[in-house]
Amino acid sequence: MIDARSLTRDFVVSRSQTVHAVRGISLRIEPGELVAVLGPNGAGKTTTMRMLTTLIAPTSGTATVAGHDVVREPAQVRRHIGYVGQGNGAGHTQRVRDELNTQGRIYGLDRRAARQRAAELLDALDLTELATRKVSALSGGQRRRLDVAMGLVHGPSLLFLDEPSTGLDPQNRANLWEHILRMRAEREMTVVLTTHYMDEADSMAERVVVVDHGEIIADDSAATLKAKLAGDRIVVTVAGDDARPLARLVDRLPGARDVVLDGNRVEAHVGDGPAAVPELLRAAVAADVPVATAQVHQPTLDDVFLALTGRSLRESENEHGDPQDPKTPKDVPA
Ligand SMILES: Nc1ncnc2c1ncn2[C@@H]1O[C@H](COP(=O)(O)OP(=O)(O)OP(=O)(O)O)[C@@H](O)[C@H]1O
Ligand SMILES: [Mg+2]
Repeated sequence: MIDARSLTRDFVVSRSQTVHAVRGISLRIEPGELVAVLGPNGAGKTTTMRMLTTLIAPTSGTATVAGHDVVREPAQVRRHIGYVGQGNGAGHTQRVRDELNTQGRIYGLDRRAARQRAAELLDALDLTELATRKVSALSGGQRRRLDVAMGLVHGPSLLFLDEPSTGLDPQNRANLWEHILRMRAEREMTVVLTTHYMDEADSMAERVVVVDHGEIIADDSAATLKAKLAGDRIVVTVAGDDARPLARLVDRLPGARDVVLDGNRVEAHVGDGPAAVPELLRAAVAADVPVATAQVHQPTLDDVFLALTGRSLRESENEHGDPQDPKTPKDVPA
């Protein structure tokens, strides 16, 4: 469905400054996949999506989408895709139903077909009751559902969603997801979306592509990424205030690394937390080390990002300055 090879995109901001927004992205996405693209602000997610949706041309590299070249055959590409931009989108003055009707007409549906498609989508995205409301009077979540409906008017086989759930409360996020997943199942659509919500990427997408500084730094299932890169962490405390004997036992656990001793507490990465804890407890009993508490923390995608870049995704989000600025040095992986 998507075959991108070494895509790059520079933005010339001024005579002396060029932003390398995308620095060589290669990506294959098969029909029916649901792929979440994750990465900090300025990583190049939107720029990549805009190239794949023919809105901007790559500086170098090639991509085919639905079998058509994004540069040479933009019209054919557009016929197969829906695109819901970041912080879209729909006009402010029309009513919800009219907005969908207009969109259908733009895509070449006749009056009747456009009306019918609008009715279907209103129903599918739970917007029927809001059909005569002005778009400007919708809540954020309702508005985002309308954005998704707009992206589906022409029955695309591939849907791009740029941060569909940003700014929505948890209930609206869950609701939007329910709709996206259902539409995907019903229409056998391929869905590519960006998100800043790691929990969302983790639980919803089968495949997570992590982008940083305009490059893909990881591409796998969330479970594999977490197992491969972050591993489980255990936190164990002893009764009393000297955990040095405990630290020695932790050190001997299979796959133990980054063992940190802090007063009565020891923290470490281990391959398999639920297996490591009973083993540690047996060793502690044998060595007469009085363990007080033992916890397993399973990794999140943020831990994966940390393992890959040495920065937490949350910290990166708060970074000042432009992370793409070529003058800003890359953080050194831990
Ligand atoms: N039209 C433009 N002109 C100049 N620079 C741009 C332009 N569009 C994007 N950039 C720069 O390219 C880099 C990548 O931007 P992009 O919008 O692709 O990031 P993103 O990953 O979508 O970030 P966010 O999570 O904040 O949406 C940023 O440094 C951005 O400032
Ligand atoms: Mg973006």
